[in-house]
Amino acid sequence: MKQEYSINLRKDAPIGVFDSGVGGLTVAREIMRQMPNEKIIYFGDTARVPYGSKSKETVTRYSKQIARFLLSFQVKTIVVACNTASAYARDELEQEVDIPVLGVVKPGARTAVDVTRNGKIGVIATEATIGSHMYNKYITELNKDVTIYEKACPLFVPLVEEGLWQDPVTDEIAKRYLSELIDLDIDTLIMGCTHYPLIRSTLGRIIGEEVTLVNPAYETAMELKRLLAEQDLLNDQPPKLGENQYQFYVSDGAEKFKRFANSIIKYGILSAKTIQIEDY
Ligand code: DGL
Repeated sequence: MKQEYSINLRKDAPIGVFDSGVGGLTVAREIMRQMPNEKIIYFGDTARVPYGSKSKETVTRYSKQIARFLLSFQVKTIVVACNTASAYARDELEQEVDIPVLGVVKPGARTAVDVTRNGKIGVIATEATIGSHMYNKYITELNKDVTIYEKACPLFVPLVEEGLWQDPVTDEIAKRYLSELIDLDIDTLIMGCTHYPLIRSTLGRIIGEEVTLVNPAYETAMELKRLLAEQDLLNDQPPKLGENQYQFYVSDGAEKFKRFANSIIKYGILSAKTIQIEDY
Protein backbone atom coordinates (compact mmCIF):
# COMPACT_ATOMS: atom_id res chain seq x y z
CA MET A 1 0.00 0.00 0.00
CA LYS A 2 2.80 2.43 0.89
CA GLN A 3 4.25 2.87 -2.58
CA GLU A 4 0.93 3.14 -4.38
CA TYR A 5 -0.12 6.57 -3.15
CA SER A 6 1.54 9.92 -2.98
CA ILE A 7 0.82 11.18 0.49
CA ASN A 8 -0.31 14.76 0.53
CA LEU A 9 -0.15 16.17 4.01
CA ARG A 10 -1.74 19.53 3.32
CA LYS A 11 -3.75 21.49 5.85
CA ASP A 12 -6.72 21.65 3.51
CA ALA A 13 -6.68 17.90 2.75
CA PRO A 14 -9.72 15.99 4.02
CA ILE A 15 -9.87 13.66 7.01
CA GLY A 16 -10.87 10.07 6.20
CA VAL A 17 -13.35 8.53 8.64
CA PHE A 18 -14.69 5.02 8.43
CA ASP A 19 -17.02 2.67 10.23
CA SER A 20 -18.86 -0.57 9.59
CA GLY A 21 -21.95 1.52 8.82
CA VAL A 22 -23.83 4.43 10.32
CA GLY A 23 -22.44 4.31 13.88
CA GLY A 24 -19.24 6.18 13.04
CA LEU A 25 -21.36 9.21 12.25
CA THR A 26 -21.28 9.88 16.01
CA VAL A 27 -17.52 10.36 15.59
CA ALA A 28 -17.88 12.38 12.36
CA ARG A 29 -20.42 14.59 14.16
CA GLU A 30 -17.91 15.36 16.92
CA ILE A 31 -15.21 16.19 14.36
CA MET A 32 -17.65 18.57 12.63
CA ARG A 33 -18.49 20.23 15.96
CA GLN A 34 -14.95 20.57 17.21
CA MET A 35 -13.22 21.37 13.88
CA PRO A 36 -15.74 23.18 11.68
CA ASN A 37 -13.18 23.97 8.95
CA GLU A 38 -12.21 20.36 8.29
CA LYS A 39 -13.34 18.40 5.26
CA ILE A 40 -14.43 14.80 5.80
CA ILE A 41 -14.60 11.78 3.53
CA TYR A 42 -16.78 9.26 5.36
CA PHE A 43 -17.10 5.62 4.41
CA GLY A 44 -19.73 3.33 5.97
CA ASP A 45 -19.41 -0.35 5.12
CA THR A 46 -23.18 -0.87 5.06
CA ALA A 47 -22.95 -3.99 2.86
CA ARG A 48 -20.78 -5.88 5.36
CA VAL A 49 -22.03 -4.54 8.72
CA PRO A 50 -21.92 -5.77 11.49
CA TYR A 51 -18.21 -6.07 12.24
CA GLY A 52 -18.90 -6.81 15.90
CA SER A 53 -19.55 -10.51 15.30
CA LYS A 54 -16.75 -11.08 12.74
CA SER A 55 -13.19 -12.37 13.08
CA LYS A 56 -10.05 -10.24 13.39
CA GLU A 57 -8.82 -11.45 9.98
CA THR A 58 -12.02 -10.42 8.22
CA VAL A 59 -12.30 -7.03 9.92
CA THR A 60 -8.63 -6.32 9.17
CA ARG A 61 -9.07 -7.20 5.48
CA TYR A 62 -12.13 -4.93 5.24
CA SER A 63 -10.32 -2.11 7.05
CA LYS A 64 -7.34 -2.30 4.66
CA GLN A 65 -9.64 -2.06 1.64
CA ILE A 66 -11.32 0.99 3.14
CA ALA A 67 -7.97 2.63 3.96
CA ARG A 68 -6.97 2.20 0.29
CA PHE A 69 -10.24 3.81 -0.78
CA LEU A 70 -9.74 6.76 1.59
CA LEU A 71 -6.12 7.23 0.52
CA SER A 72 -7.32 7.75 -3.05
CA PHE A 73 -8.70 11.11 -1.75
CA GLN A 74 -5.28 12.12 -0.43
CA VAL A 75 -6.64 12.26 3.12
CA LYS A 76 -4.26 13.70 5.72
CA THR A 77 -5.29 11.28 8.43
CA ILE A 78 -7.56 8.27 8.91
CA VAL A 79 -9.94 7.98 11.84
CA VAL A 80 -11.07 4.43 12.53
CA ALA A 81 -14.44 5.43 13.98
CA CYS A 82 -15.53 1.84 14.61
CA ASN A 83 -14.56 0.38 17.98
CA THR A 84 -14.37 -3.14 16.57
CA ALA A 85 -12.10 -2.10 13.68
CA SER A 86 -10.01 0.01 16.07
CA ALA A 87 -9.57 -2.95 18.41
CA TYR A 88 -8.77 -5.43 15.64
CA ALA A 89 -7.11 -3.50 12.82
CA ARG A 90 -5.80 -0.04 13.79
CA ASP A 91 -2.30 -1.19 14.72
CA GLU A 92 -1.86 -3.09 11.47
CA LEU A 93 -3.22 -0.22 9.40
CA GLU A 94 -0.80 2.19 11.01
CA GLN A 95 2.12 0.06 9.92
CA GLU A 96 0.94 0.15 6.31
CA VAL A 97 0.18 3.80 5.68
CA ASP A 98 2.31 6.91 5.94
CA ILE A 99 -0.33 9.10 7.56
CA PRO A 100 -1.59 9.08 11.15
CA VAL A 101 -4.24 6.47 11.93
CA LEU A 102 -6.36 7.26 14.95
CA GLY A 103 -8.65 4.75 16.61
CA VAL A 104 -11.40 5.31 19.16
CA VAL A 105 -10.28 2.77 21.77
CA LYS A 106 -7.16 4.50 23.10
CA PRO A 107 -8.76 7.94 23.62
CA GLY A 108 -11.73 6.31 25.38
CA ALA A 109 -9.43 4.28 27.65
CA ARG A 110 -7.36 7.33 28.58
CA THR A 111 -10.40 9.37 29.58
CA ALA A 112 -11.81 6.56 31.70
CA VAL A 113 -8.53 6.32 33.62
CA ASP A 114 -8.59 10.10 34.15
CA VAL A 115 -12.15 10.24 35.46
CA THR A 116 -12.45 7.15 37.67
CA ARG A 117 -12.31 7.84 41.38
CA ASN A 118 -12.77 4.36 42.81
CA GLY A 119 -10.69 2.55 40.15
CA LYS A 120 -13.57 0.39 38.90
CA ILE A 121 -14.30 0.86 35.20
CA GLY A 122 -16.97 -0.90 33.15
CA VAL A 123 -16.64 -1.39 29.39
CA ILE A 124 -19.62 -2.22 27.20
CA ALA A 125 -19.07 -3.00 23.52
CA THR A 126 -19.61 -5.56 20.75
CA GLU A 127 -18.57 -9.18 21.24
CA ALA A 128 -15.49 -8.61 19.07
CA THR A 129 -14.27 -5.54 20.96
CA ILE A 130 -14.80 -7.24 24.31
CA GLY A 131 -13.12 -10.43 23.03
CA SER A 132 -10.07 -8.42 21.88
CA HIS A 133 -9.61 -6.98 25.44
CA MET A 134 -8.10 -3.86 23.85
CA TYR A 135 -9.80 -1.47 26.28
CA ASN A 136 -8.45 -3.64 29.07
CA LYS A 137 -4.95 -3.54 27.57
CA TYR A 138 -4.81 0.26 27.14
CA ILE A 139 -6.34 0.96 30.56
CA THR A 140 -3.91 -1.40 32.30
CA GLU A 141 -0.95 0.19 30.47
CA LEU A 142 -2.01 3.55 31.91
CA ASN A 143 -2.84 2.34 35.40
CA LYS A 144 -2.39 -1.26 36.46
CA ASP A 145 -4.31 -0.73 39.70
CA VAL A 146 -7.61 -0.14 37.93
CA THR A 147 -10.10 -3.02 37.84
CA ILE A 148 -11.96 -3.44 34.54
CA TYR A 149 -15.26 -5.21 34.03
CA GLU A 150 -16.17 -6.00 30.43
CA LYS A 151 -19.60 -6.80 29.10
CA ALA A 152 -20.61 -7.54 25.51
CA CYS A 153 -23.99 -6.01 24.63
CA PRO A 154 -24.73 -7.31 21.11
CA LEU A 155 -28.41 -6.35 21.05
CA PHE A 156 -27.82 -2.62 21.41
CA VAL A 157 -26.64 -2.18 17.79
CA PRO A 158 -29.83 -3.57 16.16
CA LEU A 159 -32.01 -1.70 18.67
CA VAL A 160 -30.34 1.59 17.76
CA GLU A 161 -30.53 0.83 14.04
CA GLU A 162 -34.25 0.13 14.44
CA GLY A 163 -34.61 3.61 15.91
CA LEU A 164 -35.61 2.32 19.38
CA TRP A 165 -33.48 4.93 21.13
CA GLN A 166 -36.14 5.63 23.79
CA ASP A 167 -38.19 2.50 24.12
CA PRO A 168 -39.28 0.05 26.84
CA VAL A 169 -37.61 -2.81 24.92
CA THR A 170 -34.26 -1.00 25.01
CA ASP A 171 -34.79 -0.26 28.71
CA GLU A 172 -35.43 -3.92 29.45
CA ILE A 173 -32.35 -5.14 27.54
CA ALA A 174 -30.19 -2.43 29.12
CA LYS A 175 -31.34 -3.51 32.61
CA ARG A 176 -30.29 -7.09 31.89
CA TYR A 177 -26.90 -6.15 30.45
CA LEU A 178 -26.03 -3.52 33.04
CA SER A 179 -27.28 -5.21 36.23
CA GLU A 180 -24.02 -7.07 36.86
CA LEU A 181 -22.00 -3.87 36.40
CA ILE A 182 -24.26 -2.07 38.88
CA ASP A 183 -23.62 -4.84 41.42
CA LEU A 184 -19.85 -4.43 40.88
CA ASP A 185 -19.95 -0.78 41.98
CA ILE A 186 -18.26 0.73 38.91
CA ASP A 187 -18.05 4.54 38.86
CA THR A 188 -17.11 4.89 35.16
CA LEU A 189 -18.64 3.24 32.09
CA ILE A 190 -17.06 3.34 28.63
CA MET A 191 -19.62 3.29 25.80
CA GLY A 192 -17.24 1.22 23.67
CA CYS A 193 -19.36 0.98 20.53
CA THR A 194 -20.26 3.68 18.03
CA HIS A 195 -24.00 3.19 18.54
CA TYR A 196 -24.15 3.48 22.31
CA PRO A 197 -23.88 7.28 22.61
CA LEU A 198 -27.24 7.38 20.81
CA ILE A 199 -28.86 5.61 23.79
CA ARG A 200 -26.83 7.53 26.32
CA SER A 201 -29.86 8.76 28.29
CA THR A 202 -31.19 5.20 28.70
CA LEU A 203 -27.78 3.90 29.75
CA GLY A 204 -27.27 6.78 32.18
CA ARG A 205 -30.67 6.34 33.77
CA ILE A 206 -30.18 2.61 34.28
CA ILE A 207 -26.57 2.55 35.41
CA GLY A 208 -27.20 5.49 37.80
CA GLU A 209 -26.24 9.14 37.68
CA GLU A 210 -23.20 8.66 39.95
CA VAL A 211 -21.53 6.65 37.13
CA THR A 212 -19.62 8.76 34.59
CA LEU A 213 -20.32 7.75 30.99
CA VAL A 214 -17.31 8.01 28.68
CA ASN A 215 -18.01 8.67 25.01
CA PRO A 216 -14.91 7.70 22.96
CA ALA A 217 -16.33 9.61 19.95
CA TYR A 218 -15.96 12.90 21.79
CA GLU A 219 -12.50 12.05 23.12
CA THR A 220 -11.31 10.89 19.70
CA ALA A 221 -12.26 14.21 18.10
CA MET A 222 -10.33 16.02 20.87
CA GLU A 223 -7.32 13.78 20.28
CA LEU A 224 -7.54 14.34 16.53
CA LYS A 225 -7.56 18.10 17.06
CA ARG A 226 -4.48 17.86 19.28
CA LEU A 227 -2.70 15.65 16.77
CA LEU A 228 -3.46 17.91 13.79
CA ALA A 229 -2.44 21.01 15.77
CA GLU A 230 0.85 19.39 16.81
CA GLN A 231 1.68 18.61 13.19
CA ASP A 232 0.49 22.00 11.96
CA LEU A 233 -2.22 20.29 9.92
CA LEU A 234 -5.37 21.97 11.26
CA ASN A 235 -7.30 23.60 8.44
CA ASP A 236 -7.38 27.32 9.21
CA GLN A 237 -9.53 28.23 6.20
CA PRO A 238 -13.33 27.79 6.15
CA PRO A 239 -14.67 25.79 3.20
CA LYS A 240 -15.09 27.71 -0.05
CA LEU A 241 -18.56 28.60 -1.24
CA GLY A 242 -20.14 25.63 -3.01
CA GLU A 243 -17.43 23.25 -1.85
CA ASN A 244 -18.60 19.78 -0.85
CA GLN A 245 -17.16 19.78 2.68
CA TYR A 246 -18.60 16.44 3.74
CA GLN A 247 -18.70 13.48 1.37
CA PHE A 248 -20.34 10.20 2.28
CA TYR A 249 -19.73 6.83 0.65
CA VAL A 250 -21.25 3.46 1.49
CA SER A 251 -20.98 -0.07 0.17
CA ASP A 252 -24.77 -0.52 -0.05
CA GLY A 253 -28.10 1.22 0.53
CA ALA A 254 -27.12 4.86 0.04
CA GLU A 255 -30.68 6.16 0.47
CA LYS A 256 -31.24 4.35 3.77
CA PHE A 257 -27.87 5.56 5.01
CA LYS A 258 -28.76 9.12 4.06
CA ARG A 259 -32.01 9.00 6.04
CA PHE A 260 -30.28 7.64 9.16
CA ALA A 261 -27.37 10.05 8.78
CA ASN A 262 -29.67 13.04 8.54
CA SER A 263 -31.26 12.08 11.85
CA ILE A 264 -27.83 12.11 13.54
CA ILE A 265 -26.01 14.93 11.78
CA LYS A 266 -27.70 18.27 11.49
CA TYR A 267 -25.26 19.68 8.98
CA GLY A 268 -27.29 18.59 5.96
CA ILE A 269 -26.03 15.49 4.20
CA LEU A 270 -26.46 16.30 0.56
CA SER A 271 -25.71 12.90 -0.87
CA ALA A 272 -24.29 9.48 -0.21
CA LYS A 273 -22.78 7.40 -3.00
CA THR A 274 -22.48 3.63 -3.24
CA ILE A 275 -19.08 2.27 -4.25
CA GLN A 276 -17.66 -1.23 -4.80
CA ILE A 277 -15.34 -1.54 -1.84
CA GLU A 278 -14.19 -5.03 -2.90
CA ASP A 279 -12.40 -3.35 -5.83
CA TYR A 280 -9.91 -1.70 -3.46
N1 DGL B 1 -19.31 0.14 14.65
C1 DGL B 1 -19.30 -1.03 15.48
C2 DGL B 1 -18.45 -0.76 16.72
O1 DGL B 1 -18.26 0.36 17.14
C3 DGL B 1 -20.71 -1.46 15.88
C4 DGL B 1 -21.51 -2.04 14.73
C5 DGL B 1 -20.90 -3.32 14.20
O2 DGL B 1 -20.93 -4.36 14.90
O3 DGL B 1 -20.38 -3.28 13.09
O4 DGL B 1 -17.95 -1.69 17.31
